[in-house]
Amino acid sequence: MNYQEKLRIKIRKKKSVVCVVGLGYVGSELLKKFNKEGFKTIGIDISLRKVKKQFNNKKIFLTDKYKYISHADVIILALPTPLKNNLEPDLSFIESCMSSMKKFLKKGQLISLESSSYPGTTEKYIANELKEKNFQISKDFFLVYSPERISPELKVKSSKKIKYSLFNTPKICAGYSNKCLELGNMLYKNITTTVIKSKSLKAAETSKMVENIFRSVNIALVNELKMFLNKIDIDIDEVLDLAGTKPFGYTSFSPGPGFGGHCIPIDPFYLYWLAKKKNFDLKFIKTAGEINRKVTSWITKKILKFIKKKKIKLIKKKVLILGVAYKKNIDDIRESPGLIIAHKLKKAGIDFDFSDPHVKKINFNGETRYSKNLNKALFKRYPITVLVTDHKMFDYKLISKEARYIFDTRNIIKDRKKDYFKV
Ligand SMILES: NC(=O)c1ccc[n+]([C@@H]2O[C@H](COP(=O)([O-])OP(=O)(O)OC[C@H]3O[C@@H](n4cnc5c(N)ncnc54)[C@H](O)[C@@H]3O)[C@@H](O)[C@H]2O)c1
Repeated sequence: MNYQEKLRIKIRKKKSVVCVVGLGYVGSELLKKFNKEGFKTIGIDISLRKVKKQFNNKKIFLTDKYKYISHADVIILALPTPLKNNLEPDLSFIESCMSSMKKFLKKGQLISLESSSYPGTTEKYIANELKEKNFQISKDFFLVYSPERISPELKVKSSKKIKYSLFNTPKICAGYSNKCLELGNMLYKNITTTVIKSKSLKAAETSKMVENIFRSVNIALVNELKMFLNKIDIDIDEVLDLAGTKPFGYTSFSPGPGFGGHCIPIDPFYLYWLAKKKNFDLKFIKTAGEINRKVTSWITKKILKFIKKKKIKLIKKKVLILGVAYKKNIDDIRESPGLIIAHKLKKAGIDFDFSDPHVKKINFNGETRYSKNLNKALFKRYPITVLVTDHKMFDYKLISKEARYIFDTRNIIKDRKKDYFKV
C-alpha cells in the first residue's frame, strides 16, 4: 500500500494522529476540535506554560518538544505571521519552526499550513524545506495550505450563540498536488461542513489576503467619510443606515476607532510588500492602513481639544476608557485602538483607567493595570468617558446615565444628546 492510501485510510477511520503546532487563538481551537471529533491529538507550543491553561482536556497531549512530531500523521502549523517594524512580513516563526522540527519529519505525513501569508509562502518555506529532506511531495509526503477563518469570538465563553464557528464556516484548502488536496479535503471534512477546494496554493494564500484587504479598505472608507461628514455636520450613521436599505450591491460597514487584531492591520501589508517587490503599487492597501490609523489620532485629538477648550478638571489627570479589546465580545488586545488612544493621550500628558469585561489586566509601558468594575461611583471619578469597544456585556444604560461627558466611537449610546459626542 502506498503512503497516500495508508494516510487516506487512517484519516477515514480517525486513526490518524493530528499534531497542531502553535497553540494560540487559531491552533488551540483547531486542536480541541480535532480532539472532539475523535482524533488522537498532540499540541506543540514553545510557550507551553502560557497556552496550557486554556486546556482542561486530559486527552490532549501538550508539549514543547518537537520530537513528538514523529508520532504524528498530520501536522498543522498555526504559527504567527506578524509584521516587522518596517511593515514587511516577518516569517521568522515559520522558518524557525520548520528548522527545529525538520529532523523529526518522516515519510507518510501530511503538513498543512494555516498561517496567513502572501502567495508563494507554502512553496518557499515548507515545500522547499521538505525537498531538502529528499521527500517526494505527493508520493511520500503531503502538503496543503488551508487559511484560517476562525471567529475570534470563539475564545470568549460568554458568546455562546456565535453565528459562525469552525464547523459552519466553509474552509478553503489547496494542495501541492491533487493527491495532497484529496487528503487535505478528507482531513478538514472532519471539522467543517464545507471544504472549498482551491486549484492552487497561491490562489488560496491570496484569498486570505483579499478577505482582510476587503475589510480594511471598507472600514477605511467609512472611517474617512465619518471624519469628513463630521466636519460638515452630517450624521454618518444616519447616512449609512439609509444607504444600507439598498437590497443589492451594497455591503454595510460601520465606522469606529480604527482597526486592530492580528489580521486586518497586518495581512494586507503582506500583499502590499509582495507587490512592491514586483514594482507594483497597491494603493488601496496603503491608503486604507493610513486612514484606519488616522481615525484613531483624529478621535484622540477631538478628546484633547475638548478637555482644553472646556478646561475640564480631570481627577488624577485620568480619563476612563471603555474597552481595550480591539473589537466587541473578544479578549484580544493586539493592535487595539483603545490602547493606541491611551498611548496617544499619555503622550499629551493625560492618563487613563479602563474597564473591559473580557480583559482583566493589561501591561501598559511595563506596568500592570487592572480593569475597573463599572458602577455609579466609578463614573464620578472620571469626567471624560471614551467608549472604544462596544462589548455586549457593558451596561449601556448605566454608562449613558452616569458618564459626565461621553465620547462614543461606536455609535452605541442612543439615548443621550447632552454632553455626548459621536466620534
Ligand atoms: N487570531 C485570529 O482570529 C486569526 C484568524 C485567521 C487567521 N489567523 C492567522 O493564523 C495564524 C496564527 O494566529 P494566532 O492568532 O493563533 O497567533 P497567536 O500568536 O495567538 O498564537 C501563535 C502561537 O504559536 C506559538 N509559537 C510561536 N513560534 C512557535 C514555534 N516555533 N513552535 C511552536 N509554537 C510556536 C506561540 O507561542 C503562540 O502560542 C497567523 O498567521 C494569523 O494571521 C488568525
